[in-house]
Amino acid sequence: MSINKVGIIGSGAMGAGIAQVAAMAGFEVLVYDMNQDARAKALKGINFSLAKLTEKGKITDAESVAVIGRIGMIGAIEALKDCNLIIEAIVEKEDVKKTVFKQLDMFVCQECIIASNTSSLSITSLASSLSNPERFVGIHFFNPPVLMSLVEVIAATQTSPDTLTKVIDWVHAIGKTAVKVKDTPGFIVNKVARPFYSEALRIYEEGIADIATIDQVMRAHGFRMGPFELMDFIGHDVNYRVTEAVWKAFYYNEKYRPAHTQLKLMEAGYFGRKSDRGFYLYQNGKPIEAPQQIEVSDILSSTVFRRIIAMLVNEAADTVYLGICTEDDVEQAMKLGVNYPKGLLAWGKEIGYTDIVQTLDDLYDYYHESRYSVSPMLRKLAKI
Ligand code: NAI
Repeated sequence: MSINKVGIIGSGAMGAGIAQVAAMAGFEVLVYDMNQDARAKALKGINFSLAKLTEKGKITDAESVAVIGRIGMIGAIEALKDCNLIIEAIVEKEDVKKTVFKQLDMFVCQECIIASNTSSLSITSLASSLSNPERFVGIHFFNPPVLMSLVEVIAATQTSPDTLTKVIDWVHAIGKTAVKVKDTPGFIVNKVARPFYSEALRIYEEGIADIATIDQVMRAHGFRMGPFELMDFIGHDVNYRVTEAVWKAFYYNEKYRPAHTQLKLMEAGYFGRKSDRGFYLYQNGKPIEAPQQIEVSDILSSTVFRRIIAMLVNEAADTVYLGICTEDDVEQAMKLGVNYPKGLLAWGKEIGYTDIVQTLDDLYDYYHESRYSVSPMLRKLAKI
C-alpha cells in the first residue's frame, strides 16, 4: 500500500509545519490536536506561511487554496483511521506518547505506518508500545519544517525494512532529503554537533579565549553563528537539556558532559534571546549591538578553530565508525540540519586528517581525558 493519506498528531510548531509540507506535496492531511486553540493557531500559522510563499511568488494563489483544502483539522483521534502514515509531534514525554500509540494501535489498519518526530526519546522504546512494532519508525524533521530540507529517518530495533523503504520514499516525495540513522541518542545532528558547544565552553572556561573571540573565529571559518550566539539563539534551557540527555544516554561518557557555565545560565533564567539575556544581552530578542571586530592573534585563532573543528570531525568519523549512519549521510546531515558550510569529513580531509589526529593527540597528552580520544576511523583515514 502506498502512502496517500497522512495523519499528524499534535498541531504545535512541528506538527503544523509537517502538515503544511505534506499538503504542499499533494498529500491529504488530517491534523489531530486535543487542544482546540492549538488547532486554530496552527491553521492560522499555515495560512500565514502560505500567504508569505504566495507573496514571494513561490506558489500561486490557486495552489495556496488547494493546499489548505487538503488539510483537515480534527478533534477526535479516531478520525485518523484511514491514514496510512501517522506522524506524532506532541509533547516530548515518553509516557504521553506511548499512551497515544496504544490508542492508535486499537483502530488503525495493519499496514498503517506510525512515526514519531521525537528529538530525544528512544524510537525502540516508543515502538514497544505497539502490538506490531515493525511498522514504527522515527521521522525527525528540523524546525521550521517548511524551510529545513533535512529529515532523519530512524530505524528502531523492531522497524521492518519495508517500513523504512516506504518512509524514505515518502520523505523524497515531499521534496526533503532523508538520512538513515540507527536509533542512537541525538540521532546524527544532535550527536555530531555536541562538540561545537562543549569544546567552545571548555576553551572559554579555561580562559583561553572569551566568548566574543570564539564566536568571531568560528564565524570567520564559515559558521553562520558562533557557538555562544547559537546557544543563546537555541535557548540554554533547550540546549542544556539536549546535552544532558545525550550525556546520560551515552552512559555518562565524559565527551558529552554538559558545562557548569551553561547550567548556571539556565538556573538563573538567562535562557538567551528569548529572555533577553544569555551569554549576550538582547532587547526584544534582538542583539543590542552588532558584534565588534576584535583583534585576534593568528595563534589564538588557530588554537580555537583547530580544537573545535578537530572535535567535530572526530565525532562525525566516530558516528560512521560505529555504524550509526553512512559517510554521505553524516555530511548531508550537518550541512542541511545545522547549516555547516562543509561536510565535516570533507573539511577534515581539506585540513588534513593527520593534522586533526595530531591536534587531538596533543590535547589528550596534555589533559589525559578520554574526550580527546581519536576515533579509530579517523586514525585509519590519517593512515597513522
Ligand atoms: P509544541 O509544544 O509546539 O506542540 C505540541 C502540541 O501537541 C500542542 O499543540 C499540544 O496541544 C499537543 N498535544 C500535547 N499532548 C497531546 C496529546 N496527548 N494528544 C494530542 N495532542 C497533544 O511542540 P513542538 O515544538 O511542535 O514539538 C513536538 C515534538 O517534535 C516533540 O516531540 C519535540 O521533541 C519534537 N521536535 C521539536 C523540534 C523543535 O525545534 N521544536 C524539532 C524537532 C523535533
